[in-house]
Amino acid sequence: MAIDLPKPRLKGDLSVEEAILKRRSIREYSPEPLTLEEVSQILWAAQGITHPYGYRTAPSAGALYPIELYIHATNVVELEKGIYRYDPERHLLLEGRRGDLSSEIYRIGLSQEQIITAPLIVLIFGVFSRTTFKYGKRGIRYVFNEVGHVGQNIYLQATALGLGTVAIGAFYDEELRELVGAGREESPLYIMPVGKVG
Ligand SMILES: Cc1cc2nc3c(=O)[nH]c(=O)nc-3n(C[C@H](O)[C@H](O)[C@H](O)COP(=O)(O)O)c2cc1C
Repeated sequence: MAIDLPKPRLKGDLSVEEAILKRRSIREYSPEPLTLEEVSQILWAAQGITHPYGYRTAPSAGALYPIELYIHATNVVELEKGIYRYDPERHLLLEGRRGDLSSEIYRIGLSQEQIITAPLIVLIFGVFSRTTFKYGKRGIRYVFNEVGHVGQNIYLQATALGLGTVAIGAFYDEELRELVGAGREESPLYIMPVGKVG
């Protein structure tokens, strides 16, 4: 099933300079739920379409877009617990595995407390072949470059919304891929829990 996301808002209360200044890795979240508007805004900032040719919020070598986003929702208003895949073209969520998988993601993420307390987890994957197809071995570097852009957009958007996040690079790759139900060609690159600042 597909779940339409609210349109992202294009004006905020914090300047980009203030968001850069305030950005920190936040590992403690309030137990309050997130809204679908907040989820929509985070995903749009990460990979939303911002140009008629399909260009996105984050730059991509050759505009080949190797990054795929999943979320795991445990406490989002109007969103059933489980895994969803973000479809940037239609700005909607595609339902994946149902249920609360946070204790499994917690274990896969080396038992880092911030994973289990977050109402939302963004799971960022990369498909290397989309970029190496054109750029050969150098394409591997480009995908790693790109996840940095995407992660920073999530950090800054979260800051601007009064939310907190942290880029987590420590986890078991294969187990995370299997848990999310991602394809063989999708490699996990970051886990980013998101929640209201506690
Ligand atoms: C590639 C990368 C991997 C990271 N992995 C983790 C991690 O596994 N767990 C964690 O709590 N923070 C992780 N961090 C966040 C850093 O600890 C954090 O950015 C650093 O302490 C500086 O703090 P700041 O982000 O508030 O400026 C990672 C950051 C990067 C860039």
